[in-house]
Amino acid sequence: MSTKIQTLSGYYHEYQKSVLQPEEFWTRVADTFHWKKRWDKTLEWDFEGPDVKWFVNGKLNITENILDRHLFTKGDDTAIIWEPNEPNEPHLEITYRELYERVCQFSNAMKAKGIGKGDRVIIYMPMVPEAAVAMLACARIGAVHSVVFAGFSSTSLADRINDCQAKAVLTSDGNFRGAKKIPVKAVVDEALESCESIETVFVLKRTDTDVTMTEGRDVWWHEAVDGQSTDCKAEEMDSEDMLFILYTSGSTGKPKGVVHTCGGYMIYTYYSFMNVFQYNQGDIYWCTADVGWITGHSYIVYGPLLAGATTVMFEGVPTYPNPSRFWEVVDKFKVNQFYTAPTAIRALQAYGLEPVEKYSLESLKVIGSVGEPINEEAWHWYHDHIGKGNCPLVDTWWQTETGGIMISAIAGVTPNKPAHASLPLPGIQPIIVDAEGKELTGNNVEGSLCVKFPWPSILRTTYGDHERCKQTYFSTYPGLYFTGDGAKRDHDGYIRILGRVDDVINVSGHRMGTAEVENAINEHPKVVESAVVGYPHDVKGQGIYAYAICDMEGRTEENLIQEIKQTVRNIIGPIATPDKVQVVSGLPKTRSGKIMRRILRKVAEGDISNLGDTSTLLNPEIVDELTKHINK
Ligand code: WTA
Repeated sequence: MSTKIQTLSGYYHEYQKSVLQPEEFWTRVADTFHWKKRWDKTLEWDFEGPDVKWFVNGKLNITENILDRHLFTKGDDTAIIWEPNEPNEPHLEITYRELYERVCQFSNAMKAKGIGKGDRVIIYMPMVPEAAVAMLACARIGAVHSVVFAGFSSTSLADRINDCQAKAVLTSDGNFRGAKKIPVKAVVDEALESCESIETVFVLKRTDTDVTMTEGRDVWWHEAVDGQSTDCKAEEMDSEDMLFILYTSGSTGKPKGVVHTCGGYMIYTYYSFMNVFQYNQGDIYWCTADVGWITGHSYIVYGPLLAGATTVMFEGVPTYPNPSRFWEVVDKFKVNQFYTAPTAIRALQAYGLEPVEKYSLESLKVIGSVGEPINEEAWHWYHDHIGKGNCPLVDTWWQTETGGIMISAIAGVTPNKPAHASLPLPGIQPIIVDAEGKELTGNNVEGSLCVKFPWPSILRTTYGDHERCKQTYFSTYPGLYFTGDGAKRDHDGYIRILGRVDDVINVSGHRMGTAEVENAINEHPKVVESAVVGYPHDVKGQGIYAYAICDMEGRTEENLIQEIKQTVRNIIGPIATPDKVQVVSGLPKTRSGKIMRRILRKVAEGDISNLGDTSTLLNPEIVDELTKHINK
């Protein structure tokens, strides 16, 4: 029975059913999957705990639904097309059967090292097929993967390993990224100096970089799989057993491990993938994200492979060897659905139309956007020049915590409206609330975006700290899941996401807690205090602006600024490097000692026409110093 929506009236019909009878609605989707044992109860929930369980006591293995189930019907169909960093290196096409065999072999290799159900495994790898194999092999044996974006520093990596007490790390000798070769194994070695839980490191040969292999701990990937059986029994998992942990930044200092479980995540990533992108069997689908982020989990690996789709994995970057790369690859594989981030669109838009016009792009049927609000200019450029004006553009709003797309057009079925995520998918009940948590009904309203009913792929907890999950998402507005985003329902009833309302900034589609960056800056021995805010940035969406009070002895301002930037790169990674650092003698504070971030944001934006009343500050004179570089 198809669960794909094909008409606008079909959408309204399904949506209504999903709200009136959510359990029946999701049962129908879940029944299209293979379960080792059917569930007893579809849903148990309470947002106070929070405690959410879907498909209670159901038993399954997600990889049986990705691999075994497809072996008979589409064993020879392509599961993954891999495009390497270098355009001259041959691409790879991996069938469902080959994927099955590779996953089983690597599962057996992990088992041989004593890794099993419930163990945590860190994946710190480039965008190569083995990264997907690694995730699926963990899922096959019941180990919990936690993918760490390979651009994170050794300190960030060590923090994550220690937080989840991982038993193994899967990595490579090095990564190719555009013209650069990054020695990632050395980063892992450095991280492991402060981690005691790791017993095994699997190292994939990718760049032929010299590495140090620690005896008894490090093994080459190819040697570990050599001779392993190409079959491996899938571990029986409970619906609510952990599938993975993914760390994400929040408004407090330390990243938190968002936990997703097996049953609900499987159902929802499949359902949302099929519907939003209107995938048809045989289509070639490409999502340009990295597996280090939730988009890579849900819409490169799990969603598409559950649907038996052909998913493209790209190792490189959009501008290497030139800014035509995306479009060249679209034509090369005749990509039908293309899913990317607004920051990539804006970066490519800056090169003009010449790199685009060399390619036909005629295979494209659907284009998508994710990760941050897409401004109207980028929306139109993407729609007109990439979609050639006739591809629906799905602006998909969701989060690491939501597991799957929540608010988005359904391609060609529900209307497209520039810069609007638009309508919720069936099963999703978003509401907009005012500061007191009162629901704002009707159109033309603006407030905080919450969700009032659970959906199958909602986060279950934050690893090792359930209280933090409760505080962050379920306490601001009791009885509701709070997203941290502001939203507006316009006069037509379409939702527009307005951006974060907490101290989180969105840099090139990556979430960064301002407190996390401040903590890193404060590690510099000369920094006394710092404050970080976001400001509008043409390409990145938001840039990072840091104010730092420093002890200047023995340093020039210029040196200090460079050192502060370097400190952040070392502690978090290049993605968190401040775009601007202003050395200041003080920060604007209220009489109770709280930093007035509103003023810092205004100064960072270069807009000092409307700073509001600054006379109540403890130190009003600081405002003149902060703004002296801005032309008044
Ligand atoms: C933002 C990425 C506007 C939002 C899947 C959210 C968006 C955060 C959109 C989650 C969109 C994501 N329009 N804003 N289409 N998609 N966001 O966890 O602020 O990396 O809260 O998940 O990105 O980022 P995350």
